[in-house]
Amino acid sequence: MSFAGGRHFLQIPGPTNVPDSVLRAMAAPTIDHRGPEFGELGRTVLAGLKPVFGTTRPVVIYPASGTGAWEAALVNTLSPGDKVLCFETGHFATLWQEMARRLGLTVHFVPGDWRHGVDPARVAELLGQDGAHEIKAVCLVHNETSTGVTSRIPEIRAAIDNAGHPALLLVDTISSLGSIDYRHDEWGVDVTVAGSQKGLMLPPGLSFNAISDKALAASEKAKLPRSFWDWRPLLEAGERGYFPYTPATNLLYGLREALRLLEAEGLPNVFARHLRHAEATRAAVEGWGLEVLCADEREHSAALTAVVVPEGHDADKIRALILDRFDMSLGAGLGKLAGRVFRIGHLGSFNDLSLAGTLSGVQMGLALSGVPIRPDGVNAALDRLAAASRTDREAR
Ligand SMILES: Cc1ncc(COP(=O)(O)O)c(C=O)c1O
Repeated sequence: MSFAGGRHFLQIPGPTNVPDSVLRAMAAPTIDHRGPEFGELGRTVLAGLKPVFGTTRPVVIYPASGTGAWEAALVNTLSPGDKVLCFETGHFATLWQEMARRLGLTVHFVPGDWRHGVDPARVAELLGQDGAHEIKAVCLVHNETSTGVTSRIPEIRAAIDNAGHPALLLVDTISSLGSIDYRHDEWGVDVTVAGSQKGLMLPPGLSFNAISDKALAASEKAKLPRSFWDWRPLLEAGERGYFPYTPATNLLYGLREALRLLEAEGLPNVFARHLRHAEATRAAVEGWGLEVLCADEREHSAALTAVVVPEGHDADKIRALILDRFDMSLGAGLGKLAGRVFRIGHLGSFNDLSLAGTLSGVQMGLALSGVPIRPDGVNAALDRLAAASRTDREAR
């Protein structure tokens, strides 16, 4: 590494930068997870998570990465051979449907071009054709972290309702929860899957399921084998703030502090901040004369931006140079996007100056890599941020 001073810029789309107060909260003695102090902690975080998911129903916490919560959503609600509808929005949607197949489910995987979200009209069409109601669940990734495309869940919910179809709606919010507006109850989602390491500003290691009454009822009949992921013992112990096994106590200290930070800022302000940074980032990409991967204006992610690298240039080499020269990590192109895009994470604990530094590093790195860009990206982003802060001041 050429530069050792200053702070590393962790601008991958998760894990994200962990605020100092969250780090400090975790640096505390581990306590008895069956004692009274733990019960208080457990009750506080389980209650505090609900508004973040937009639910009044139960949430369960796993000491696992997001992949575990994917599995939990499937094994608690479905039976061997059940048909599920999945959409190829990108790398993570592809991995989730692979897991469903491995678990013994029958997957209908609708092909996609990795530049669009789930098409509500296609959902309506496919469910409309399933008069026998063989499809038991629709599995969607809300914010596809590999592409920077956000699917429109309320429109998809409306499509399911208009088709009069009883399928469960399972939604992965691993890179949207706490960054992009999300409403488990209002949008009629049955299981919301989430993780700690992105919008919740924690290290990796916790994951979540928010569970509707309909999902809970389905879990009574679900026959896929489950043990560690079983909701029942978690829900039972969770009522008193405890876990049926050893919890990740110190991560829960961090979660308590992260929830406090989100509440102090106010979720609407958190979402507005992410939208502002995403818009400024897109202004930068346009200023450089490059292309954003997301192809639909309505589906731009507020959490990250995937930038297409011109033919003849290798996105991984650009990222390597930026890491070496400027000590900044950017997200790699995943799956079939490897080498063709890099991803700028602008989610979690992040502010205008962090964005300005991030975009400056990208602009310098692109120029040093010989990518033909116009040098107008950073200024375009700063103009956008300045305009947003003027509007904000006037509104106060
Ligand atoms: C949208 C999405 N789903 C699933 C995952 C997998 O989660 P994990 O790596 O925490 O197991 C990720 C990870 O980045 C993700 O972004």
